[in-house]
Amino acid sequence: MGSIDEANRVDGSDSVLDIVKKDPSLIPQKYLRSEEERAKDIVDISLKYSSQIPVLDLSLLSNGDKLELEKLDKACEEWGFFQVINHGITEEVLQSIHNGAAEFFKLPVEEKRKYPYDPTTLQGYGIHYTVSSDQVLDWSDSIMFRVCPSHLRKPELWPATPPSFKEAVEIYSAEVKKVAKKLFGSLSFVMGMEKEEGLLELQKELQISMRVNYYPTCSSPDKVLGLSPHSDPSSITILMQNNDTIGLQIRHDGGWVPVKPVPNSLIINVGDALEILSNGKYKSIEHRAVTSETSTRISFGTFVSPDNEVEIEPIKEILNMQQKPATYKKIKYGDYLTTIMGKKMHGKAHVEDYKSRAH
Ligand code: OGA
Ligand code: NI
Repeated sequence: MGSIDEANRVDGSDSVLDIVKKDPSLIPQKYLRSEEERAKDIVDISLKYSSQIPVLDLSLLSNGDKLELEKLDKACEEWGFFQVINHGITEEVLQSIHNGAAEFFKLPVEEKRKYPYDPTTLQGYGIHYTVSSDQVLDWSDSIMFRVCPSHLRKPELWPATPPSFKEAVEIYSAEVKKVAKKLFGSLSFVMGMEKEEGLLELQKELQISMRVNYYPTCSSPDKVLGLSPHSDPSSITILMQNNDTIGLQIRHDGGWVPVKPVPNSLIINVGDALEILSNGKYKSIEHRAVTSETSTRISFGTFVSPDNEVEIEPIKEILNMQQKPATYKKIKYGDYLTTIMGKKMHGKAHVEDYKSRAH
């Protein structure tokens, strides 16, 4: 165990993986959570809930299977989260991006710092959402990629080592984009839109970014969090993790429910933009990640969002269905992002700000 001084010497670009490598028992002060924020024991009821998180078949959804579409509608309403199987992405593609990321994160921190996080374009390696020097830090390393539109990519922030990583990101994200388009087709249908392309057209040119999270082991997982509670600003987020370590927990019924991964499935969640478009019918659920004493975990979150210029507001089809006025204000998606990006992730406070009080 290091001295207190040493324990507190952490700067914004530190690598948690390096801290663990140097001294597996050390948890610097900056990572210690207050009692109420800590990852509490998973109680039985959460585990019971865990097996109820809906698992949907994407090929059935895309074929317009009525029962499956009903399940999708219910999943977005009651959980804001679901897993999809039969999504069409091969195990080989999943495995190659996983291997690339595992190798990248294991590089010495000096090597990883060659791709420093750029907060204006939201890409690169380092700590995202750092707003104050006394903020409690997450027990994870991460790198962000801006995938679409491609002219916003900063190729110099895409790691050159291992050489296969960049290409794997490219291939995987192109596949995920196809999955997203299929899901928007199904969602357009259950949201009562006339055309299958309804939601897709409304969002104009899709923005896609990917955050790759590496959660090293932690000697006291109950004292830290892998990722602070937050909701995603996206329309939908597609999360992939291809081992069976449980890490993601979602808010449900006032508790934290762990998502038990179905092998090779994708975890989908409703983001703030879809919550607004659906006038709150679908919920952008708060979630967080916890760490483990024995297993590292890598996750790939792909955030699919509307073009920054698109003004998002509850769609008329939903308002007709609900027979009630819009409870969210109209906002340009880019402005929504700007207001939330400067703030530390804190639960669902952001989308709540856009609930209109005028009606
Ligand atoms: C995210 C996220 C969860 C996880 O990257 O936004 O919620 O399990 N990740 O890594
Ligand atoms: Ni998230």
